[in-house]
Amino acid sequence: SPTLLSCLLICVTVWINLSSGVFAKLHRRPNIVLVLTDDLDITMGGVSPLNKTKKLIGDAGISFTNAFVASPLCCPSRASILTGKYPHNHHVINNTLEGNCSSKAWQKSEEAQTFPALLKSFAGYQTFFAGKYLNQYGHSEAGGVEHVPPGWNYWVGLEKNSKYYNYTLSLNGKAQKHGADYSKDYLTDVLANMSLDFLQYKSNYQPFFMMVSTPAPHSPWTAAPQYQDRFNTTKAPRDPNFNVHGKDKHWLIRQAKTPMSNSSVQFLDDAFRKRWQTLLSVDDLVEKIVERLEVRGELDNTYIFFTSDNGYHTGQFSLPVDKRQLYEFDIRVPLMVRGPNIKPNQTSQMLVANVDLGPTILDIAGYSVNKTQMDGMSFLPIMEGRMNSSSWRTDILVEYEGEGRNVSDPACPLLGPGVSECFPDCVCEDSYNNTYACVRTVAPSANLQYCEFDDNEVFAEVYNVTADPYQLTNIAKTIDQEILEKMNHRLMLLQSCSGQSCRTPGVYDPRYKFDPRQMFSSHSWKLSRLRQTTK
Ligand SMILES: *[C@@H]1O[C@H](CO)[C@@H](O)[C@H](O)[C@H]1NC(C)=O
Ligand SMILES: *[C@@H]1O[C@H](CO)[C@@H](O)[C@H](O)[C@H]1NC(C)=O
Ligand SMILES: *[C@@H]1O[C@H](CO)[C@@H](O)[C@H](O)[C@H]1NC(C)=O
Ligand SMILES: *[C@@H]1O[C@H](CO)[C@@H](O)[C@H](O)[C@H]1NC(C)=O
Ligand SMILES: *[C@@H]1O[C@H](CO)[C@@H](O)[C@H](O)[C@H]1NC(C)=O
Ligand SMILES: *[C@@H]1O[C@H](CO)[C@@H](O)[C@H](O)[C@H]1NC(C)=O
Ligand SMILES: *[C@@H]1O[C@H](CO)[C@@H](O)[C@H](O)[C@H]1NC(C)=O
Ligand SMILES: *[C@@H]1O[C@H](CO)[C@@H](O)[C@H](O)[C@H]1NC(C)=O
Ligand SMILES: *[C@@H]1O[C@H](CO)[C@@H](O)[C@H](O)[C@H]1NC(C)=O
Ligand SMILES: *[C@@H]1O[C@H](CO)[C@@H](O)[C@H](O)[C@H]1NC(C)=O
Ligand SMILES: *[C@@H]1O[C@H](CO)[C@@H](O)[C@H](O)[C@H]1NC(C)=O
Ligand SMILES: *[C@@H]1O[C@H](CO)[C@@H](O)[C@H](O)[C@H]1NC(C)=O
Repeated sequence: SPTLLSCLLICVTVWINLSSGVFAKLHRRPNIVLVLTDDLDITMGGVSPLNKTKKLIGDAGISFTNAFVASPLCCPSRASILTGKYPHNHHVINNTLEGNCSSKAWQKSEEAQTFPALLKSFAGYQTFFAGKYLNQYGHSEAGGVEHVPPGWNYWVGLEKNSKYYNYTLSLNGKAQKHGADYSKDYLTDVLANMSLDFLQYKSNYQPFFMMVSTPAPHSPWTAAPQYQDRFNTTKAPRDPNFNVHGKDKHWLIRQAKTPMSNSSVQFLDDAFRKRWQTLLSVDDLVEKIVERLEVRGELDNTYIFFTSDNGYHTGQFSLPVDKRQLYEFDIRVPLMVRGPNIKPNQTSQMLVANVDLGPTILDIAGYSVNKTQMDGMSFLPIMEGRMNSSSWRTDILVEYEGEGRNVSDPACPLLGPGVSECFPDCVCEDSYNNTYACVRTVAPSANLQYCEFDDNEVFAEVYNVTADPYQLTNIAKTIDQEILEKMNHRLMLLQSCSGQSCRTPGVYDPRYKFDPRQMFSSHSWKLSRLRQTTK
C-alpha cells in the first residue's frame, strides 16, 4: 500500500541519515598509537639514538621531563599501563605466573577491564596489538598462545619474554614460529611490517587504537646486521653515581662491590652500546608508521605516544645492569606525545606516570576515567595547554616487591636463599627484601622522594632531587621531622588508595590535610604485614 511504501522510504532515509551521521562522527574521532619500548631509560641518554622519533613525535608535540612508572619491572609496569592501576590494585607483583604475570587470576579479574578493552567495547575503536605483552604470555598454564586477551581485534603477541630471533608469535591465537633470518624474522622489523599491514587493511569506518610493543632495547640486545658496528666508541656515562658505593642506602646496594670488577665494567659498556644499536631499528619503526599515516592522510588525526615500561641502570651505585631499584634511573622513563590538539615543540615538567596512559587515551576517545576503577588521571588537559602547574597533581606512588624469596640464585649458591639476578662475582641486583614503596613528589616548591622498605631494618630513603639529582645522599636522618611525618602519612594513604582516592592532594598541594591519626593505621600492602609482625 502507498502508506506502507512511504513509511518504508522514510524509515530507510532516516536510517541512512542516522547511520552516516554515526559513521561520520566515529570517523572523525582521533586514532591513537602507543609505541612501548622495553627497559628504555631517560637518565642515561636512552633517547639519543632515536633522532627520528624525537623529530617526528617529540618536536611535533610534547615531551614530559617528569614521567615515571608505578613499578620498575616489566610485568607489573605493563599491567599498570593496561589497567591504569597501581600494583596494589592490579595484583601483578613480579614477572612470574605466581606473581600474577598473565596468570589465570589476572585474566579473570583484570584483563577484561584494560583500557584497550574499554576502547573496543564502549568507544567503538578497532584495536591492534603487536609485540611483547606480559612476560608469561603464551605459557601453557595461562592458556598458551591460543589465548587472545579481550580487547583486541587484531592480535600479534610475542610468546613469553623479549627476543629478537627464534621466537613464536600468536597471530590471533595461532602460533607462528620464526627463525633467525634477518629479512624475515628480525622482530622489530616484523612488528613494523605488521603495523603497516594493519594501517593498510583496517576498516576506514572506525577510529583505531594501535599498540606496538618492542622488546628492544631489552636483553639479549641483538642489533640488526646493518647497525652492529654503530656506536663502537660509546660507553655508559660516567655520571657522579657511576661505580660509587651507595653506603647510606638499603641492604642490597650496600652489598655491591666498589669498584666493580673490570669484567663487569666491560660487560656493562658492551650492554650499553648494544642497547643503543637495537634502538636504531625502533627509530626506523617509528618513522615507517608516521610515514604511512601521512601517506594515508591520517597523521593529522592521530595521537602518537612513545614511552617505556621502566628505566635502566649501567654501573650506578656499582650495580652492573638491570632495573628494579627505586632510583631515578630505573623509575623515570621517556614520554613523548604528538596529536591533533597538541602544539609542537613543548616540554612539560608536570608529574605524570604510566598509570595515566589509560585514562589519557580513554579521555581522547571521549570516555571518562570516572567510569572506570583506574587510579591514574588524564593528562590530556596538560597536552592541550588547559592545565597549569599550580592545579596539577603533585605526587605518585612507586611500589616494588623484591624477588628471591626461598630460592638461591644459581649463579651464587653460596649466598644462600633470598637474593636473585646475581652476576658471576656475586653482586646481586635483587633480593626478596628489596621490597619498597615510595612517594615521588614533583611540585612547584619541591622535588622529593620518600621510600620505606619492608626489610628487617624498616629502612627509609629520602632524596631531595633538586639539590641532589644523582641521589648520592640519603637525607632520611636529617630532613625536617615534620616533612618526614607528612610524607610517611601520604605514603600510607597512597598504598591503600583506589580510584579517586589515588588522585587526592599531595603533601605539597595547598589543599593537603594532615591527619596524624591515619599514620600507620590503614595500609593494604606489604609494609603493613611487617608492622603487624613487629608490633
Ligand atoms: C642524532 O643527531 C645528533 C645531532 O644532530 C647527531 O650528533 C647524532 O649523531 C645523531 N644520532 C644518530 C644515531 O644519528
Ligand atoms: C593474584 O590476583 C588475584 C586476583 O586479583 C588476587 O586475588 C591474588 O591475591 C593475586 N596474587 C598475588 C600473589 O598477589
Ligand atoms: C636460532 O636458532 C638456531 C637453530 O637452533 C641457532 O642455530 C641460532 O644460533 C639461533 N639464533 C639466535 C640469534 O638465537
Ligand atoms: C619488511 O618488509 C619489507 C618490505 O616489504 C621487506 O623488505 C623486509 O624483508 C620485511 N622484513 C621482515 C623482517 O619481515
Ligand atoms: C667503528 O666503526 C666505524 C664505522 O662505523 C669504523 O670506521 C671504525 O673502524 C670502527 N672502530 C672500531 C674501533 O671498531
Ligand atoms: C682494571 O682496569 C683498570 C683501569 O683500566 C686498570 O688500571 C687495572 O689494572 C685493571 N685491573 C685488572 C685486574 O685488570
Ligand atoms: C621545533 O624546534 C626545532 C628546533 O628549535 C625546529 O627545528 C623545528 O622546526 C620545530 N618544530 C616545529 C614543528 O615547530
Ligand atoms: C570526575 O570526578 C571528579 C571527582 O569526583 C570530578 O571533579 C570531575 O569533574 C569528574 N569528571 C568528569 C569528566 O565527570
Ligand atoms: C591555574 O589554574 C587554576 C584552575 O584552572 C586557576 O584557578 C589559576 O588561576 C591558574 N593559575 C595560574 C598561575 O594561571
Ligand atoms: C613472585 O611472587 C609470588 C607471589 O608472592 C611468589 O610466590 C614468587 O616466589 C615470586 N617470584 C619470585 C621470582 O620472587
Ligand atoms: C635481606 O635479606 C638477606 C638475604 O636473606 C639477608 O642476609 C639480609 O640481612 C636482609 N637485610 C635486611 C635489611 O633485611
Ligand atoms: C631541597 O633542596 C633545595 C635546593 O638546595 C632547597 O631549596 C630545599 O629547601 C630542599 N628541600 C628540602 C625538603 O629539604
